Amino acid sequence: MQEGNIGVFDSGIGGVTVLREIIKLLPNENYIYYSDSKNNPYGDKTKEEIIKRCEEIFKLLLSKNCKTVVIACNTASSIASNYLREKYKNIPIIAIEPAYKMVYDYAYDKETLVMATKGTIESEKFNLLYHKYDNHKTKLLECVGLADVIEEGNESKIKNYLERNIGQYKRKIENVVLGCTHYPLIQKEINQVLGGNVRFFNGANRLSVHLKSVLEENELINKADENGKIVFIDSSEKPEKEKRFYKFLKEEDL
Ligand code: DGL
Repeated sequence: MQEGNIGVFDSGIGGVTVLREIIKLLPNENYIYYSDSKNNPYGDKTKEEIIKRCEEIFKLLLSKNCKTVVIACNTASSIASNYLREKYKNIPIIAIEPAYKMVYDYAYDKETLVMATKGTIESEKFNLLYHKYDNHKTKLLECVGLADVIEEGNESKIKNYLERNIGQYKRKIENVVLGCTHYPLIQKEINQVLGGNVRFFNGANRLSVHLKSVLEENELINKADENGKIVFIDSSEKPEKEKRFYKFLKEEDL
């Protein structure tokens, strides 16, 4: 069982920001990354559509010998993780969530902007987290279409989107929660628009630490001493997805 793969999925290539954190801690594991860019964005889909799609991907990853599955998409996690955990009790499922608790732990008294998809912000799971750790200085911003623009990779569209949607917070925000796994890819651009001293919160590092401890507890750690392999699958089968995925995988934190 230790030789099994770690399945990681997202609605597109954004989950690469989670995978690169995981690999830092678990370099010897073998990974299968599934990018569902044919069905992207998840953020504007119904709950039923997201659950159905996540279950299909989950089953596909299990059929490829995955010993655990990481949901590297905040939208999918907030809507489908409880359903999948309930139904597939024997497989550890690790799910990302917006790092709002970190704001509570480290920068409670600061003006905070949570950026996430509509699906995440409206979800019950996120609302429980938000009300538990509310610092009463938080703005929740549904970034409709932003993951899509990032997925497309057009820099001027990204800049225009940010100017239009977060320009009004310039120098008024100190904490930004990157509540969608695509957003760390444009952290620099977000910082340029907001100006000032912005501190970014991203749940990927915590997820990696948690994943490692779950693998250890379940005796699922791969004991191999060489680096593992990564298999990339994209539902749209567009070759440029794979190229961008590996480019971002190699990039250091932005
Ligand atoms: N990367 C995603 C997330 O973390 C999903 C974006 C989307 O497909 O709308 O929420």
